[in-house]
Amino acid sequence: MARYVIGIDVSTTASKALVIDADGTVIASKSHPHELSTPRPLWSEQDPENWWQASAASLRDVLQQVPAEEIAAIGLTGQMHGLTTLDKDGQSLRPAILWNDQRSGKQCEEITAKIGAKRLYQLIGSILLPGFTAPKVLWIKQNEPEIYRKIAHILLPKDYVRYRLSGAFAADVADASGLALMDIGKRTWSDELLEAYGIPREWLPELCESPDICAYVSEEAAAITGLKAGTPIVGGAGDQPAAMVGMGIVEMGKASLAIGTSGVAHAISDRYAPEPDGRLHTFCGPMAGTWFHMGVMLSAAGGLRWLHDALTPDEGYDEINRQAESVPPGSLGLVFAPYLTGERNPHPDPYARGAFVGFTLRHGLPHMIRATMEGISFGMRDQFELLRGLGVNPVEAVVTGGATNSAVWLKLTTDIMGIPLYTINTNEGSAFGAAILAAVGAGMHASVPEACRQMVRKVDTTEPDPATAAEYEKLYAIFRDLYPALKETYHALAHFEGL
Ligand code: XUL
Repeated sequence: MARYVIGIDVSTTASKALVIDADGTVIASKSHPHELSTPRPLWSEQDPENWWQASAASLRDVLQQVPAEEIAAIGLTGQMHGLTTLDKDGQSLRPAILWNDQRSGKQCEEITAKIGAKRLYQLIGSILLPGFTAPKVLWIKQNEPEIYRKIAHILLPKDYVRYRLSGAFAADVADASGLALMDIGKRTWSDELLEAYGIPREWLPELCESPDICAYVSEEAAAITGLKAGTPIVGGAGDQPAAMVGMGIVEMGKASLAIGTSGVAHAISDRYAPEPDGRLHTFCGPMAGTWFHMGVMLSAAGGLRWLHDALTPDEGYDEINRQAESVPPGSLGLVFAPYLTGERNPHPDPYARGAFVGFTLRHGLPHMIRATMEGISFGMRDQFELLRGLGVNPVEAVVTGGATNSAVWLKLTTDIMGIPLYTINTNEGSAFGAAILAAVGAGMHASVPEACRQMVRKVDTTEPDPATAAEYEKLYAIFRDLYPALKETYHALAHFEGL
């Protein structure tokens, strides 16, 4: 019996192939980079051929270490929302338009007005953002009609790689949620939305659940990658829901805080209840009968890097942490608004900016460092408050990303969140989650939660200190007033810059 599974992650920066066994032990991992092109302001594109070549090369590399007949199944994950357009022969029509491309703001406004904001949020589980896929299709219709006329298929990035691996046009519901064309509560394509956009149903891939087998490796792809023809491919999931699986956030009451360059909070739910004002994303979960909530901060640990690079580029992060530790919780009343690259949740505003508020003569660089860490963690707390507003009450959360490398930051984040935070035994992220989904699809485990219980383990838990948590509660109330107080100023500054 085949012993291993592969997770393929088609991220923005690279395609990676990760081989694990049924216990989650990493057997091999290889990746090849992608190129990103920004031909115009607001544009962000990639050549789908590049994803396929990088995925195929990574597969060839790992299959040097593991025999192809030992692979029980493959799971795919990748950057969400990207639009790949193919003609009737399956040829790519133009570079893919990525999740971080901002060109389709006008199309989002058009569709929101057409459907009505509340109805739209109820269907797609979020406000409609230019990052999502459907407004990009409308942009092509309005700006590149000669390409639009030739479209026969639209696919997400990882599903393009699935197509090259198998010839199948398929998508899992967790990633397909990010197209903003589904009735997410019903886990189907929405006729109402397809009609509003004028998008034919035949363009869209078949939907499946994340752990279900929906395709098989073709003879042609087997010859290119070294895989065995007929190897099953499960639905997989977008990078965010796959990361949840990889962190074991697949049961009620658990949540995650990923504090990397950007910050993301996730929680699972067994019913569809989107935030009424669309201030969180609520998408289909990576298991049948589940949905997940996701709150995104655009600049999280990226904010601390900015402070380091701007003010103390010659110091290492050990010194940064030492300075943060030398300052009491609350940084003597200095607060930091972390919106250095605009914001998504809970303030969807491209013009939001960073700010320090409360300088006095007593403040110096160490206070700025600690206040930056605190402001970023308050931003993550905002995501949790949105979750709590939906009745999701995490009793503990896994924490991943750069913040876990700093004892002082991890401690103050725990006090700000007011619940225990723990680290886990793996940092393979989305590829690991995709491999777990493959292991379930291959029958190595009975369910996703059972697979996670076996493969993902707690390493260290940090408990909140009640007295410090109470102090932070007071400062958090002040932090929450920052954005509303500064909004007019942010917009005036954007105007000043000609935006
Ligand atoms: C999710 C999102 C990103 C991309 C790229 O909504 O936009 O996580 O999937 O990583």
